[in-house]
Amino acid sequence: MNERIRPDVDLVTELRGDITFGPFANPYMKSIIRAFGKKAFERSSACAEFESFVRQVLKIAPGDSNLISGECCLEIGTFYGITAVLLSQFFERVICVSLDLEADRLMKYRIVEHLGIDNIYFCDAENRSVKTAAIRGATFDFAYVDGDHTNDTETDFALVERCGRVLLHEYWPLQPSVWNLVNELPQHEVTRANFDCLAYWDGKPRGR
Ligand SMILES: C[S@@+](CC[C@H](N)C(=O)[O-])C[C@H]1O[C@@H](n2cnc3c(N)ncnc32)[C@H](O)[C@@H]1O
Repeated sequence: MNERIRPDVDLVTELRGDITFGPFANPYMKSIIRAFGKKAFERSSACAEFESFVRQVLKIAPGDSNLISGECCLEIGTFYGITAVLLSQFFERVICVSLDLEADRLMKYRIVEHLGIDNIYFCDAENRSVKTAAIRGATFDFAYVDGDHTNDTETDFALVERCGRVLLHEYWPLQPSVWNLVNELPQHEVTRANFDCLAYWDGKPRGR
């Protein structure tokens, strides 16, 4: 088995007690850490305020039984699929378009199969043209942008803004491309996370 996808369960055997609070209390997160260990969370934006902020912007109250808040979420940048798993709770389906090295592509399929999730569709794009075509051809009503922030923030936002609801990762001064884009949107359409680098735009597409 490829070194990069070997389950790392050693960490899990060191954990004592149940996980009852924070992002890892989510049943999917718990199940992933137990089965795959910390390796599965590499590069993931799901390990802090992600789920609670998504619930906030989707207006899901604690105890709500119906979590579905839209038909389709389009995610750009998936890696091992952790945020896709969390988003799959809130949408009829999630389409993930990601540009990854061959060695990094398999893990997300193993995780989703392990969890028994059947509403996530992965598109492993070979290059930016394939990625662009896949996104242009998709219908979605929410987008999560977490791909190549340095180089693709403007083009990724332009590709998804037609849906009118876009969540962006790396909204902080360390990533000027995201920082500047969000700060130049109409500010009454923007919600910022309190302690995480997430910003959410719910507004009128600018049609760029
Ligand atoms: C930070 S990881 C995403 C992690 C995932 N959203 C999570 O939080 O669990 C960024 C992902 O974007 C992929 N990527 C890199 N360049 C990209 C591009 N130009 N377009 C789309 N995805 C890209 C990376 O290979 C990686 O899978």
